[in-house]
Amino acid sequence: SILDTVIDNEIETEGYGICGGGIACSTCHVILEDGVFDKTLEEDPWGEEECDMLDNAPNVTDFSRLGCCVH
Ligand code: FES
Repeated sequence: SILDTVIDNEIETEGYGICGGGIACSTCHVILEDGVFDKTLEEDPWGEEECDMLDNAPNVTDFSRLGCCVH
């Protein structure tokens, strides 16, 4: 997942993915480019938990996903 990539590469993102991929925090929110976003939906369709979590995330756009839900 995007979250795994951030962790594996020790990318400095304070507070990112604080629930460890449990779909319980929305701190892994990412905004993707249009073409990339469409591709993620083909490979990792929305789940109900992700949609619910994004409903409460700040600054959500039409191209938002949770980084822990995109592989
Ligand atoms: Fe918490 Fe993705 S890491 S919702």
